[in-house]
Amino acid sequence: MQFSNCQQNQPTMKRIFPFLLLIAFCNCQPEATQTWIVTPYPNAVTVAPGGFDFSQGVHLESADPNLEGVVSFFQKRMEEIGVNVDNESRKKIHLELAAGDEKKQEAYALKIGKTRIQLTASHPKGIFYGMMTLWQQLRLSKNMSVPRGFVEDVPRYGHRGFMLDESRHFFGKEKVKQLIDLMAVLKLNTFHWHLTDSPGWRIEIKAYPKLTTVGGIGNHTNPDAPARFYTQEDIKEIVAYAAERQVEIIPEIDMPGHATAANRAYPEFSGGGSEKHPEFTFDPGKEGTYHYLTTILEEVASLFPSEYIHLGGDEVHFGNEKWKTNDSIQALMRREQLSTLVDVEHYFIRRMADQLTQMDKKLAGWDEIVESDVSKQGSVVYWWRHDKGDQLQKSLDKGYATVLCPRVPLYFDFVQHDSHENGRRWDGFGTLEDVYAYPESTHKFTEAEAKLIEGIQGNLWTERFDSDIWVDYMTFPRMVALAESAWTSKDNKNLERFNTNLLPFHNFLESLGIGYFNSFDPTLTPEPEH
Ligand code: ACM
Repeated sequence: MQFSNCQQNQPTMKRIFPFLLLIAFCNCQPEATQTWIVTPYPNAVTVAPGGFDFSQGVHLESADPNLEGVVSFFQKRMEEIGVNVDNESRKKIHLELAAGDEKKQEAYALKIGKTRIQLTASHPKGIFYGMMTLWQQLRLSKNMSVPRGFVEDVPRYGHRGFMLDESRHFFGKEKVKQLIDLMAVLKLNTFHWHLTDSPGWRIEIKAYPKLTTVGGIGNHTNPDAPARFYTQEDIKEIVAYAAERQVEIIPEIDMPGHATAANRAYPEFSGGGSEKHPEFTFDPGKEGTYHYLTTILEEVASLFPSEYIHLGGDEVHFGNEKWKTNDSIQALMRREQLSTLVDVEHYFIRRMADQLTQMDKKLAGWDEIVESDVSKQGSVVYWWRHDKGDQLQKSLDKGYATVLCPRVPLYFDFVQHDSHENGRRWDGFGTLEDVYAYPESTHKFTEAEAKLIEGIQGNLWTERFDSDIWVDYMTFPRMVALAESAWTSKDNKNLERFNTNLLPFHNFLESLGIGYFNSFDPTLTPEPEH
């Protein structure tokens, strides 16, 4: 990068005149150095004085047909923020795929000069993230310019997730799309969609229509609320929307527990429940149950391109006491030599995992699946019980790929400030700083263990939250901290810089009409009314 040259000679008037003219046209100050304000902060940044100015438009230049989707996506995004995308522009962003590490498809490099930006990656995902870095800088800084220099960036984790529970309360297509948009801005790449649970079944299954016409009725606060669910057309639309933003959707169909809504629709497959959790389980003693659930999963598998389907598998003990007296389950126990109800649960999970394998899918499940001895190659464990560190250890010792989403600090239905009343607390709660400090605040993994950590995820359960306003307030800004914890390496994290960059992010959220908790001054953004 060159500074403007302003030498002062001992001139005669004749010699000085052209020089004065030059001064009139050149700014003698060295150009200011700009700073990146993007979150997650890129992993290697070298900033040179001056900026690449977008105000006169830019040409997104690429000859690669594999990049057509990314180019057309960012053409629209750039135009939305007032950047004219114009093939005749002298300013160019040259997008190029180059051979690179197969495992680093999301990595990208930016070389930013005065009139040309070179963006290189080994895969369209990396090009997408490089463009997102530029877009976020323009959108947040609002000054139509990005810093000159170099960015070399690669995510810390391959799984950067957010889970939304739409069984307890249903928020609908537009809200889900908005959350996916924000995930993409923050380079989060996995949307875990909790679509079935006790209060309501939210995904249309053509072979079993009552799952939604009956099972879709009700929510956590009102068991009689009219049926709300996603049709298969809705799901296809949302999956395509997410794919355009490099977000993969992993659907969760929870089993064998949390099945009350399904059992309202098809009671013949119920394994009963408990007083507090009636009709809570599917019946693992009946062959018909496996056929029923396999048919459901086949439809789910055809809708979601992800290699994973999440089968839950959590908290079966909440409502499996009828299993003790259920004839077919007792017969199953004798036949398969299962000595406890937990063994029955694991038998069920193994059988359903086998069905997934036949559909060319892998099993995702909560950390209860660790003991079921499902295959290591075909399964990923979501460690959620923060009070059971031994369960995480077991998952790693057994060699399971593992996602970290412990209740504290990554359940976003926990309060985020001591003054807050709505939300859970249990061994504390999850402040913004706690999310930012995770996971190195809590874990010291060996090299072998660290290789099994797929990533981290924030989970928003919605027993207590029934409106978009609440979803936003509980999610933001924790999702912003989650994104940096998931992307930016431990050594490159810096809370002070994160907080500085959070201020323009707050403004961005405000411009979208998204309410958030202001961690700098809790009095500014009190909890919403219920
Ligand atoms: C869970 O929170 N029951 C996974």
